[in-house]
Amino acid sequence: MPEFATPPISPFAIQFDAEAATLTPEGPTLTRRMSALDGLFKDHDAWQQAVADGDPVVYSVQSTPVPEVDRELPQSITSIEAGTTAGEFWMTKGHQHPNHQGEIYLALHGTGGLLMFDGTETQWIDMVPGTIGYIPPGWAHRSVNVGADPYKFLAVYPGGAGHDYGWVLEHGMGKRAYAVTDGFELREF
Ligand SMILES: [Fe+2]
Repeated sequence: MPEFATPPISPFAIQFDAEAATLTPEGPTLTRRMSALDGLFKDHDAWQQAVADGDPVVYSVQSTPVPEVDRELPQSITSIEAGTTAGEFWMTKGHQHPNHQGEIYLALHGTGGLLMFDGTETQWIDMVPGTIGYIPPGWAHRSVNVGADPYKFLAVYPGGAGHDYGWVLEHGMGKRAYAVTDGFELREF
């Protein structure tokens, strides 16, 4: 085996069920409850109340066995529950890739948005089933469920990209998505 073919991962098939939004074989699943989103919603009191009121699951991430190491290409499916906290739509924590590498998201179910921020400029991509959102290197990214059903998407990303969640706490995301009568609107952070 050539030295760049890194054990222990060998070529294998992944069954992608777009309807069920599953990947098989399964790797680790990450579940984020409201309490894990400390400091991210604008209304801290409303966030604290939601934690006290049962600390609901906000999103989960199901991955395949491909490891998050340099040169591998992991995949995962994220499912964000529908909901708002003081009018702000439920979302992922958001992160920056410390190694500044790109990533793609493919929307599978529901109605979502891909919010990106480079420290100055904010970009928003409407995500409906079939949309691929491209995240260029250097853009922090967060997914938001702006619909009434779970919003689910497939992510494919470089295994060495890393996840810097602190960047978002420090720099924000530029905008926030709020529920309004006919959908959502973006407001200043
Ligand atoms: Fe990412």
